[in-house]
Amino acid sequence: MPHALSPADAAKKAAADAALDLVAPGMRLGLGTGSTADWFVRSLGAKMRSGALTGVVGVPTSVRTGQLAEREGVPLTTLDEAGWLDLTVDGADELDDRLTLIKGGGGALLQEKIVACASDRMAVIADATKHVATLGAFPLPVEVVPFGWETTRAIVEATLRELGHEGCAIALRLHRDEPFLTDGGHFIFDLSLGAIADAPRLASRLIAIPGVIETGLFVDIADLALIGAPDGAVRRIERG
Ligand code: 5RP
Repeated sequence: MPHALSPADAAKKAAADAALDLVAPGMRLGLGTGSTADWFVRSLGAKMRSGALTGVVGVPTSVRTGQLAEREGVPLTTLDEAGWLDLTVDGADELDDRLTLIKGGGGALLQEKIVACASDRMAVIADATKHVATLGAFPLPVEVVPFGWETTRAIVEATLRELGHEGCAIALRLHRDEPFLTDGGHFIFDLSLGAIADAPRLASRLIAIPGVIETGLFVDIADLALIGAPDGAVRRIERG
C-alpha cells in the first residue's frame, strides 16, 4: 500500500500538479530547485513516461534537480541550447500578494533567477505557509564571491544600516562546518531582516555591492502563484 503523504507534502504536490496543467507539448521548461519543485519534476516525469505529454525539454536550475529529472526520464538541455524558455516552475521560501519572492533557501538562487528571467512565464508553487503579508521572516539569501567575503559582509552590513536594518544578523551559510558552496562555487549570506519594507530598493542596493552576485529577492519576475492545501485545493494568485 502506498504511503500517505504528510499534509505538507500533499499541499506541495497539489501545487505542483496544478502547474503541470500549464505545460503543453513541446514546451521548454525551467525546472526549479527544492522540495516543492521536486514534486513538479516527479509529476512531469510521470506524465511524460505515460505518453500523455511529449516533446517537453527541461533546463534544471541545480545539479540536484538535473539528477532528479534524469531519474524521472525528463529530457534535459542547457539554457544556452534552449535560448529561451516557455515556462519556469519553481518553489519559494516566501511570497507576498504582489508575487515578490524570497528564494535561495536551497542555495540555487542565481541559476533560478537566470532561468526564470529567460522564460515567458514563471509560476511559483508553494504551500500556504510560504504566503506571507510581509516578506523577511525567512532570512534573505545573498550569493557572494568567496574572494574578500568578510569585506563584502562589512559593506552589506553598512548598507543594511543605511536602509534601517541596524543590527540585523548576517550569517555565512555553512555545510558541515565549512562555508556552503553554491553550484557556481560561491558563498551565501543569510540576512535576518525580520521585515522587508521596500524589496526593490533593498535588492538594488545589495546588487550594487561589488562581490554580491545575486540576491534571493525576486521582484516582478513571478507571474503566477499556485498555493496548494493538504486537501488538494489550489489557490491561484496572478501578478497584477
Ligand atoms: C532553492 C529555492 C527553493 O525554491 C526554496 O528554498 C523553497 O524550497 P522548498 O520547496 O523545499 O520549501 O529557492 O534555492
